[in-house]
Amino acid sequence: MMPLNIIILAAGKGTRMHSNTPKVLHAIGGKSILAHVIDCAKMLNPSKIIVAYGYGGEVVREAFLLENITWVNQVEQLGTGHAVQQALPFLDIDAQSLVMLGDVPLVDVAACKALIEQANNKLAILSFNKADPTGYGRIVRADNQNVIAIVEHKDATVTQRNIVEVNTGIMAMPNMHLTKWLSQLTNNNAQGEYYLTDIVALAVQQGVEVVAEMTDDEWSVTGINSKTDLSAIERVYQARIAQKLLLQGVTLKDPARLDVRGSVSCGKDVEIDVNCVFEGDVNLGDNVKISANCVIKNATIKAGAQIAPFTHIDDTEIGENSRIGPFARLRPGTTLAADTHIGNFVELKNSQVDVGSKINHLSYVGDTTVGKQVNIGAGTITCNYDGANKHRTNIEDDVFIGSDTQLIAPITIGKGATIGAGSTITKDAPADQLTFCRSKDQKSIKGWKRPSKIQK
Ligand code: UD1
Ligand code: CA
Repeated sequence: MMPLNIIILAAGKGTRMHSNTPKVLHAIGGKSILAHVIDCAKMLNPSKIIVAYGYGGEVVREAFLLENITWVNQVEQLGTGHAVQQALPFLDIDAQSLVMLGDVPLVDVAACKALIEQANNKLAILSFNKADPTGYGRIVRADNQNVIAIVEHKDATVTQRNIVEVNTGIMAMPNMHLTKWLSQLTNNNAQGEYYLTDIVALAVQQGVEVVAEMTDDEWSVTGINSKTDLSAIERVYQARIAQKLLLQGVTLKDPARLDVRGSVSCGKDVEIDVNCVFEGDVNLGDNVKISANCVIKNATIKAGAQIAPFTHIDDTEIGENSRIGPFARLRPGTTLAADTHIGNFVELKNSQVDVGSKINHLSYVGDTTVGKQVNIGAGTITCNYDGANKHRTNIEDDVFIGSDTQLIAPITIGKGATIGAGSTITKDAPADQLTFCRSKDQKSIKGWKRPSKIQK
């Protein structure tokens, strides 16, 4: 096999997106359109990936600083042939090139491989039968069915416009030929552009065989030009992920109401209810149950854990058989051991909660270590911030914190301690004792009347 250069065309402006963000940086499944194309390219083991960029310039490059990419700036967009010409200085003469489009995120690796296999000595084009071919380049075949040219819609005759086999824009060819063809392109056509597609007629003239590999997966060759296209492709992408999960045995209450913006890996007998969004890397163990309307990002949720509705989880690990939510918020740096219970309107941040501990109602626990079998009552607040610095709270095993308690950090609540409800605790509480701090002077006033509204 010849070495492979991949040229990705991504200089187009994307005017119809009506956005300040370059078209190829808009996201599908939480990842930019161009990143999808680059990921596909990388799966083909190229010796070089060259991206022709233009509109949006440095913003596009900066989004891929970690990738080993050769960037070529197409300052003026004078056509797809002109875009490929910008890559010319970087092409390896003993290699072949695969041309991909930066705005086609669902591009299929297998289809690209099929082209590459042909392109040792041929020009191989990926084509598609399009019900409404308006706007596309038509694949023109001779009577013997050999491909002889691609004619752009605006240049096509009435007869040619009836051709439904269209150019997807993805093609592969030996660089030895490509470099020569690029120097022979002209812009003598309806759009005054340098068409890459003119290389087909040049190949035929010069006796190089042209083959068209047809795909029947329209979405895999659909480019994004508008927010309508973006939303349509997003739904296709999400439907495909949902289908994969179903095939693995995940129960989805409605595959159309699931969004994965990253990756979700699932054990056996996982159940996911409607309207859940998964971001980053999410791992769900066996028998995990996610109820409706949860947003879960970069999380590991271990076997048997159940997440009740409207829970928000970010950068958190949840232990086996834990019960979370409804309406819980788990923020970054949180680790929950097995059998923990986190209930409604509880916010946890950068806290470690050990086996069997419960924080069931209306609490904020931040920068805190919670031991085993601890019960934190309703409305408990760890006051971790003094306005300048964050301090830690340390709650040892078997502690019971009464409701409506403030723990002013830095502070340690000793093993087995009980804190009386309504306390503001500012000093360490000793192990095994009851500690409380509340006003003694409860009063009742006889004959007291509630104020009533003054009638105007
Ligand atoms: C092109 C093909 C057409 C094919 C269609 C498939 C040519 C002349 N025509 O049409 O046969 O059916 O794609 O969608 O090749 N781009 C640049 N620089 C430029 C022009 C375009 O980087 O100067 C990039 C765009 O960003 C886009 C891709 O090339 O990713 C295709 O350009 P676009 O204008 O969408 O396609 P057409 O030229 O209309
Ligand atoms: Ca164009």
